[in-house]
Amino acid sequence: MKTAVIYWSGSGNTQAMAEAVAEAAGADLFNVSEFSGNIDDYDRVAFGCPAMGAEELEESEFEPFFAGVEGKLSGKTIALFGSYGWGDGEWMRSWVERAKAAGAEMIDGEGLIANETPDDEALENCRALGEKLAK
Ligand SMILES: Cc1cc2nc3c(=O)[nH]c(=O)nc-3n(C[C@H](O)[C@H](O)[C@H](O)COP(=O)(O)O)c2cc1C
Repeated sequence: MKTAVIYWSGSGNTQAMAEAVAEAAGADLFNVSEFSGNIDDYDRVAFGCPAMGAEELEESEFEPFFAGVEGKLSGKTIALFGSYGWGDGEWMRSWVERAKAAGAEMIDGEGLIANETPDDEALENCRALGEKLAK
């Protein structure tokens, strides 16, 4: 079973989450700009992206990437995570709905969010998510 964690992060907060998820999952870790593989080669994938724009995915790299793999998520076990600032997690709720509509099997049924720099509790939640991703 191959597992990947693919993320975008502008100021490192989602990257810290990604590293914790990947370490606990024993997953291959990719910044989205470096991912050149085929998503079909991975049974399980965690995607990470912070709230950007106005409650949106980051538009220049992550959004085009996710739009490109969305059609391959049906039946795949995935997790979504990311950091946010002043909002209430709206970007993640929209993203989860989008992934579910694509037919993905969401771990926990919802995304994992952390406010700005993930604290110890948030990092522990990331590790727990990684452990579920690995099962
Ligand atoms: C251009 C820009 C747009 C943002 N838009 C939102 C937003 O719509 N809602 C929100 O809660 N936070 C927003 N934020 C805050 C970031 O989501 C937050 O700082 C997050 O921790 C950044 O994660 P990163 O370090 O992985 O890039 C925005 C930040 C930037 C720079």
